[in-house]
Amino acid sequence: MRKFLRYTLPVFILITAMLLSNASCGNTSLKPTKAITNSDDTGNKYSYQDYAGMGAEEITASMTLEDKAAQMVQGAVYMVSGSDMEKFDYGSILSTTGTSLKANEWLNKIIGYQQSALLSHAQIPFIYGQDSVHGVNYSSGTVIFPHNINIGAANDPDLTYKMGLAVADEIKLTGMLWNFAPCLAVSRDPRWGRTYESYSSDYTVVSDLGAKYIRGLTEAGVLACPKHFFGDGMVEYGTGEGDYLIDRGNATLTDVQIKQQLSAYQAAIAAGARSVMISFSSVNGVRMSENYHYITEVLKGEMGFTGFVVSDWEAIHQLTGSDTIKGQVVIAVNSGIDMLMEPEKYEECRKAIIDSVNEGKITKERLNDAVTRIIRVKLEMGLFDDPYMENIKTVQKNTGSQEYRDLAGKLQEESMVLVKNENAVLPLAKGTTLMIIGPAADSLAAQCGGWTISWMGAQDAQIIGGTSILSGFRKIAKEYNLKILTDPSQMSQADAVILCVGESPYAEWNGDTADLLLTGKLGLAGNREAIDAAASSGLPTIALIVAGRNVIIDKEIDQWDAVVQCYLPGSEGGGAANVLVGKSVFSGTLPMPWYSSVDSIDKGDAWLQAGFGLKY
Ligand code: BGC
Repeated sequence: MRKFLRYTLPVFILITAMLLSNASCGNTSLKPTKAITNSDDTGNKYSYQDYAGMGAEEITASMTLEDKAAQMVQGAVYMVSGSDMEKFDYGSILSTTGTSLKANEWLNKIIGYQQSALLSHAQIPFIYGQDSVHGVNYSSGTVIFPHNINIGAANDPDLTYKMGLAVADEIKLTGMLWNFAPCLAVSRDPRWGRTYESYSSDYTVVSDLGAKYIRGLTEAGVLACPKHFFGDGMVEYGTGEGDYLIDRGNATLTDVQIKQQLSAYQAAIAAGARSVMISFSSVNGVRMSENYHYITEVLKGEMGFTGFVVSDWEAIHQLTGSDTIKGQVVIAVNSGIDMLMEPEKYEECRKAIIDSVNEGKITKERLNDAVTRIIRVKLEMGLFDDPYMENIKTVQKNTGSQEYRDLAGKLQEESMVLVKNENAVLPLAKGTTLMIIGPAADSLAAQCGGWTISWMGAQDAQIIGGTSILSGFRKIAKEYNLKILTDPSQMSQADAVILCVGESPYAEWNGDTADLLLTGKLGLAGNREAIDAAASSGLPTIALIVAGRNVIIDKEIDQWDAVVQCYLPGSEGGGAANVLVGKSVFSGTLPMPWYSSVDSIDKGDAWLQAGFGLKY
């Protein structure tokens, strides 16, 4: 049911809405050419252009309670219509659909909503948010960078900063200026379905790379949103919400561990982060979305964060203190959450804020603080001066440029970790005949993983451009005099097997696993057959693992002469071939420990420690 609501239903509603509201999508002739003036309840006249020169406090002071409450909610694109925006002027809209519009289609769609927002009573420009967690998501033809776990394996701060600039550049071409990234989870247990969204199990690496990426996004004019504040990666197995194994569970943390987690957010703030998303999970038994101490006293107080705080997707409905929407809104807002990510209940939440202020359950000071923070960030983003994003400069004219593909490819090559190389089977000698098999050999979808085109990942055909591992080998075959075979019936002609196995794409709790096995529920279909074919060939076998984490391979490891952990390389995964022939070097190291059984997780007896990586 959850999946239906988040995936199938949104696609259906979005397509229907686009067909019905075509007139307002991308029709820039609707743009107001002069100030449209509305009057508020006190008879004051104003228009968005009259806000020129005003500060966030002043603008907030000029707004009605109704207008303020609307700024504090964010609805989903598949629910909010242009006429809703004209009526209420919601503070933000977000994407989570399986529809991959092209960059200019997104831009036109967002301009259409902005036209509506600026015809509203408040005329406050809205901001569009989405999860471009490894390149622009939900859009076709963009460069899909390796996931954060790869970025941690590469651990190249300069390239991470450049990735921030590049992703921001492609984001600006779509108009979705608010990016819910980076994830600053410090990963503890690979059974968590969001392990690949984490840079590392080392909080200093998370802090450093997160800050570099944020600096890139921010300098290019995109609003970063480090998430999920905090402790999301530290949750314990078995504490997951409902029937989830681990996702959204509880982290039992010492004061020292809490300081370590917070240090990544302090670095993010210093790097320019102006929004922060609160975690679904709990720390020491208290849900973060109702944690007044950490949101208000620590983040906004001690840490000096003056941007705004957003809740996670419908997170407030999991709060323990109330089972009514109004009660949940009161708890969340009074804990310090400024904007509620409410894909479907945004209007109910808006009304709940209004009623709660009228009833004195949310003070006017808290209301004004929340709205001022949101307006302040919108002012800083230049949205009041340039709501239609006409003056935004981009380096590239289109998404999917060769320059950004090369950058993604470089990060991908740097992120490959060589964990076993017996008899120096790698680098591959010139003139080798290779049998390349396994379900990850020619699958852009497997290489990209979750949060690609749609929440749960893409279909191969939806990823435009890019190179698979197999096509990467084909590209260099002539130069290295390689003969490439893919039909296992020709096994006897080969000198070595390149066995490409991995996990199916997943996101969030859908990736929680009890066994971490390649041949388990989350393994790619065909892993078992390919592993067996390689084993029975008697040939030297080089296993390439395309997975969101260090899966358990204790049963297979002795059959393999070399093992390369590729994690989730993104659309440019074909660069693996360059490293395997020695055209590029191996420089990646494990960002997290590699366990040989689930029983040894987090017990200090990993098979390989974080930082391990063979070189040549
Ligand atoms: C995830 C967030 C994401 C949000 C919006 C939530 O389910 O936890 O990481 O930003 O959805 O898609």
